[in-house]
Parts: sequence; C-alpha cells; structure tokens
Amino acid sequence: MSHYSIKNLEEYYQVYRKSVREPENFWEEIAEEHFLWRKKWDKVLSWDFSSPEVKWFEGAKLNITENCLDRHLLSRGHKTAIIFEPNNPEEEAQHITYKQLHERVCKMANVLRDQGIKKGDRVCVYLPMIPELAVTLLACARVGAIHNVVFAGFSSKALSTRIVDSDCKIVITADGSYRGSKSIDLKGIVDEALQDCDIEKVLVVKRTNSDITMVEDRDVWLQPLLDEASSDFEAELMDAEDPLFILYTSGSTGKPKGMVHTTGGYMVYTAYTFKNVFQYKENDVYWCTADIGWITGHSYIVYGPLANGATTLMFEGVPHYPDFGRFWQIVEKHKVNQFYTAPTAIRALAKQNLSFAENVDLSSIKVLGSVGEPINEEAWHWYNDIIGKGKNPIVDTWWQTETGGIMISPLPYVTPTKPTYATLPFLGVQPALMDESGEELKGNQVEGRLCIKFPWPGMARTIWNNHERYKETYFSTYKNMYFTGDGALRDEVGYYRITGRVDDVVIVSGHNLGTGPLEDAINEHPAVSESAIVGFPHEIKGNALYGYVSLKETGESRVHDNLRKEINQLISERIGPIAKLDKIQFTEALPKTRSGKIMRRILRKIAENDMSNLGDTSTLLNPEVVQDIIDHRI
Ligand code: WTA
Repeated sequence: MSHYSIKNLEEYYQVYRKSVREPENFWEEIAEEHFLWRKKWDKVLSWDFSSPEVKWFEGAKLNITENCLDRHLLSRGHKTAIIFEPNNPEEEAQHITYKQLHERVCKMANVLRDQGIKKGDRVCVYLPMIPELAVTLLACARVGAIHNVVFAGFSSKALSTRIVDSDCKIVITADGSYRGSKSIDLKGIVDEALQDCDIEKVLVVKRTNSDITMVEDRDVWLQPLLDEASSDFEAELMDAEDPLFILYTSGSTGKPKGMVHTTGGYMVYTAYTFKNVFQYKENDVYWCTADIGWITGHSYIVYGPLANGATTLMFEGVPHYPDFGRFWQIVEKHKVNQFYTAPTAIRALAKQNLSFAENVDLSSIKVLGSVGEPINEEAWHWYNDIIGKGKNPIVDTWWQTETGGIMISPLPYVTPTKPTYATLPFLGVQPALMDESGEELKGNQVEGRLCIKFPWPGMARTIWNNHERYKETYFSTYKNMYFTGDGALRDEVGYYRITGRVDDVVIVSGHNLGTGPLEDAINEHPAVSESAIVGFPHEIKGNALYGYVSLKETGESRVHDNLRKEINQLISERIGPIAKLDKIQFTEALPKTRSGKIMRRILRKIAENDMSNLGDTSTLLNPEVVQDIIDHRI
C-alpha cells in the first residue's frame, strides 16, 4: 500500500496508527518514494524538546527546486505550473509551464549570484503577488540563499525591522503594486525602510510603471539583468537541515519572531500534506487565495503544489475588485478544482448579494479549504451550501507559521466533516490537550490547551538569532511538548475544534497581531501614558481590536478624536494598516493586579460586552476604574 495518498477513513486510521507507532519508518518511506535526494540521510530523526533540537533526514543532500522543477521537466515540462491572474480582469492571465518556470528561476538564480548572493545569505523579498515573487523564492532556494519574504502590506518600519533582524544583503521589490482600484508605492516604502538599514542592492521589478526614484549604485531594474542571464543554473547542494527561509510572525510581546524553516523536512511535509489534504489529481487546477507573504502562500501556493507537479494559481488582486464576484469568476474562468481561502474572506463574500456566487459556474470545484482562524458556523454553512452545493467537502485546516504545514484537518472524501471542526490530526501529528496545571487531558470530550507531543518534519527549528526565545515561547510552558498558543476541544469521537488563541495574539482578518507590539507603538505617542489592546468579535474580520488608552492629561472629546486618528496613524506606520484599532476608549486608568499587571481578562470581557463574567474585581489595585470603564464603553 502506498501511503502517499489516503483513500478512505479506515486507511487513514490504519496509516495514522503506523505513523504514530513508527514515525521514523513512516516518514522515511514517504521521503524515499516521492522525492529526489542527491544523497540519502544517515538518520531519519533526532530530537529533544528540552534543548529544543529537532533534525529530520540528517546528512541528506538535496535542492528543493530540483524537486519542484527539474524532476517534472520530462513528464510535465509543458504542463502549467503557475497560472497568474492579474488584478485587472482585462489584463490577460499568464500560464507559465514547468519548463518556463525552470528557465525563469535559473535566470533569476544567476542574477542573484551575479549580485554576490551565495548559500546562507539572507534575501529580503518585498513583492506583490506577481509571478516574480514565486520565481524569486525558488531562485533563492536554488542558490541556497535564505529568503525572508515580508508581506507587501507591511509598513516601512515593519520592513526595516525584519531586514535588520535577519541581516539581509539585498532587497527585491517592485515599483508598485495593484490592489483593486488602488496602486501602492512599494518602492517608496522600501526607500523609507532603507534609511534605517544597510543594504547594498535593491532589485526592482517593473509592475505599475509608476514614477519612482532609483538610488544610484543601489537600485537596479531587474528585467535587463534577467534578459542577459543564462537559463542554466546548477542547483546548490543543500543539507536537509540547511535553512530554506525565515518568515516573521507576531509574538504577543517583543519584536516579531523570525521562524526558521529548513529544507528536507519542510519539503516532505508540505508536499505530503498538500497531496492528501487537497486530494490533488494530475490535471487539477488548485487555487489558494493567500498572499505568498504569509506561510500559507509559502507552503500551499509555492512549495507544496510545485513539489507535486501541480498547477497552482496566483491571484494578484482582492476579492471585491472589480466586484464581489471576482473569486467566483476566477474559479469559473480557470476551472478551479481546489479552492483554499480564509474565513474572513468567506464572511465578507457571504454578506454580498447571492447572485455573485450563483450566476457563475462553480461545478469544477471538488474541495474547499479554510485556514487562518476558526471558521464560525454560519460561514461554514454558507461555504458548504452556496459554494460547495453541499457536495464538496470543506477542509478546515488548522496550522501555524511555526508548524510549516497543515496539522489538523479532514481529508476530503475520507473524513466526514463537522461544521467548525478541524477534525482529525494529520498523519504523524500527535496532538495533546493540557490543563492549566500541566496535566494532559486524556480521553474524549475534554477542552484544554493544544500541544504537540512529537516532532513532525515541517516544524520550524528555531527563531532566527534567538534560540532561547524559541525555547521559551514554545517548549517551556509544558514539559516535552510543543505549545501552540491555541485552545482546543476534543469531542466524543476525537474530533478537534480550535477555540482560539489563549495568549495575547489577536487574529484580525486572518492576520496574527501581537498586542504587545501594538501597545508599544501607541505608548510612543507623547500624550499617552499607557494602553492595553484586546480583541473583540467582529462580524467579518473575526476579531477587531479594542484599545484602552490612558492619557497623561485628560482632554475634551474633540481632542480625543484627533488623538484617535494619530494613534491609528502611528500603528499604520509602525506595523501596517491591517493593525488599526476599531475602537479606542480613553480611560482614567487601566485595571491592575496588586503586582501591577494589567488585567486584560476584564478588559476583554468589557470589549466583548459581556459584563456578567467579570469575576471578582475586588482584589484589584484599583477596582473603581472597572465601573468607570464600563460606563464609558464604546
Ligand atoms: C489560527 C496560518 C482555527 C490559530 C496557517 C493559529 C486557526 C494561528 C486555523 C496561526 C483553523 C489557523 N481554525 N484557528 N483552521 N488555522 N488558525 O501563523 O490561532 O498565520 O495559532 O498560520 O491561526 O496563524 P499563522
């Protein structure tokens, strides 16, 4: 029996049991049968969660781009690897074959090498969702350089922090980007960011033809270099444990964490999960609507699909441009078979006139996916009934930047789905639910904090330049466990439902935002004394942000309105527009414990308008402020 593609529930349980009983044998079989290794490993796995140290396929040599490109050339050279659907529906879509993609990647790899980039160097990528983005990632991997993609909606400050933290040598960007009816001055943002850091070269892709400044000796147009470059490039030989990329994710406090993913395990894991979770078949067209600036795009637009020789669609635009039917028009136009999106998009689209979804042919769809945050019951049913016509399974996939790939998810046509449940662990994944005292909750019908007991090949190996923080954040809360930061419950048949973050990270429209860094930004305002941010439920965004801000001096409400604008402006500059607060309440003080810790639990309840559950506030340092905050709630 080949374990590469699971066909039914019985087979799932059978293979799952094996994957847990003999994880090394299990992953070794997958790795051996389905990938191209230049040298086999000496050891499948060594691990120790207390250091923590995890190594998969140690001693093996490979290049992930030979797996994503070269090995498909003979059988799939003329198959479309990437479909590019531009922001403007009038602009023609591009179909890039595996052969063409291979050529473009090799050319780009040559350009990088000519710029002095070599194995281990960090390359910052700040690009819109255009084919060059995928090409650049693969070119870095071909050279052995470590890509650090920064989502092109992040601010210049967020960009420079990431460039500095990972000490990037070069930045690859575009003149501008299109987002619906707007265009964004990407190069201007880069110029601003680079005032704070030391970068030798900026390669610029021409996309919007906008008027930009090119800094002499630093900025170079990419296309002429590509035109000159050779389309042969021998892939660098990488160790399985060599870093493939760094991708930053928000922590609840402090600066963002540069999660480091390595080559061999990440490849095996993303490819294998892609194959099973989407049941991809040879001529299918697969579309994930995420941006490659997030982990979902890395794993399930680029690496997972291409390692399987799939056709993967990249969409440059937004769901509401030119109208709210755009996603469905794209599904119809390209006959998309697997469609993978986020609950926040589903909720926004579900609010629109049904005709957007009903006047298009969605019959190509076989599998629907959801990722990024819990999907609520209403959105699940709309997705299931209106888009899936009740016949296409929804795979509600739970995972994280840190996990590299999908961890808990139904397998379509294999696992019976249940609304709002991510259902069963993926093969080889061993979840555990823990109670607050650190005991594992055994059996079914329990709720606790979600941990993972055993390594899986796709897990991040460290935080760039900060292994101590990696240990502290993920491996110190529970002994010998990876702690996810999420809460979850396990129902009577063993299905998991993710209940949400249990730390101070709030997921807004699928984007993780640590409240600590947001508060730091607000506290920079000269009028602000201190602040606390919490999430509260929002119909479309899932969560929105509620800020409690106490000022050095209290003022009139007119002044307050200006302050609100200034605070959001600060947040936009420091983090990005996605992090703006929906509500800002000015308060005399913030409720604190006797040890001086802000009582966020109470603030969260007030923001949620749930005053019945405030608990005992009498032990606070300043209980009187609670009522005052309730009285002035917005
Ligand atoms: C949340 C995205 C419920 C969760 C791949 C996790 C989910 C965080 C789901 C990671 C889901 C992701 N159901 N919650 N299906 N998928 N999450 O790093 O809180 O951007 O910890 O990775 O998103 O977000 P990240």
